Amino acid sequence: AVRNFSKSAIMANAIKNVTVIGSGLMGGGVAQTFTFRLAAQTGHNVVMVDVDDGVLSKAHERISTSMKRVAKKKFGDSQEEANKFVSDSLSRLTTSTDSTASVKNADLVVEAIVENIDIKQKLFKQLDEAAPEHTIFASNTSSLSIQKIAQNVKRKDRFGGLHFFNPVPVMKLLEVIRIPETSQATIDSMLAWGKAMGKVTVQCKDTPGFIVNRLLVPYQGEALRMYERGDASIKDIDTAMKLGTGYPMGPFELSDYVGLDTLLFIIEGWAKDYPDEPLFKVPESLRKLVSEGKLGVKSGEGFYKYNK
Ligand code: 3HC
Repeated sequence: AVRNFSKSAIMANAIKNVTVIGSGLMGGGVAQTFTFRLAAQTGHNVVMVDVDDGVLSKAHERISTSMKRVAKKKFGDSQEEANKFVSDSLSRLTTSTDSTASVKNADLVVEAIVENIDIKQKLFKQLDEAAPEHTIFASNTSSLSIQKIAQNVKRKDRFGGLHFFNPVPVMKLLEVIRIPETSQATIDSMLAWGKAMGKVTVQCKDTPGFIVNRLLVPYQGEALRMYERGDASIKDIDTAMKLGTGYPMGPFELSDYVGLDTLLFIIEGWAKDYPDEPLFKVPESLRKLVSEGKLGVKSGEGFYKYNK
């Protein structure tokens, strides 16, 4: 398995240094995957950026735990090799609270900060002035327009979307998104990098939700509407979709897993931009749970209860 990593590493040679802005579930997952798959063997580096050291040290801890899980699978029989791989990988991962300084040597910047268009636009404007000419910029947004995020950036030919899925180390898919100005060379680099990360890439235009979320979010909304009408229970809808279609999680389990606040944020944004699309209507039961602080797995309760 390790040899496979190195082979694909050659393909990502153009991208040696990656800066990930945002150390949450997604940003941390991207930093972890890049470190683990490539950096440790090739001498590549990743810088993970967030607003303060407390947040970063929590993220570092989470990454270390998750990496050990992945390593345990990879090096099943050799605990020693697994430990060495994890510590080599972690030594390639640095953290910073200074986003502009952290992009000075970056070949690729992946942004995974809060889903707020103004904050993202401001960040990229600053990074555009600080990063070298050749640096590719990508956003991991799940529902905002890449074109809008890139609004204040001059390097639009080197701008695109790299959309990962949670949990990033496990989910095999990477959506590569282009805006009209994105150059083919940029797309090619992003595709090669994604492959080297061990992902299967698909391409999509800059449309709401790209491929996966454009289908998944309305499906989650439809499940909620089915429950609101009283047609079936939450548990039975989940059981039906798992056993009837082979999905690993039912729509309510998945909504709890992704975070009900995240789901609500996506639907509300689309409902505002596309008021005539019935699939983008905000389900009342979702709004209610979020207003009660029931956000899913992370808060201990959503549609189901969890042990924190
Ligand atoms: N880090 C590292 N490895 C992990 C992991 C993590 N956070 N979570 C799971 N794994 C790996 C481990 O190797 C684990 O094996 P282990 O238990 O021996 O360590 C293996 O996956 C299986 O995990 P579990 O036994 O805990 O549980 P499952 O077999 O039920 O798998 C799951 C968990 C992979 C999350 C699976 O339920 C699943 O695929 N669910 C659907 C997830 C999904 O649809 N994600 C996309 C959401 S949409 C999105 O992200 C878009 C965004 O824009 C909102």
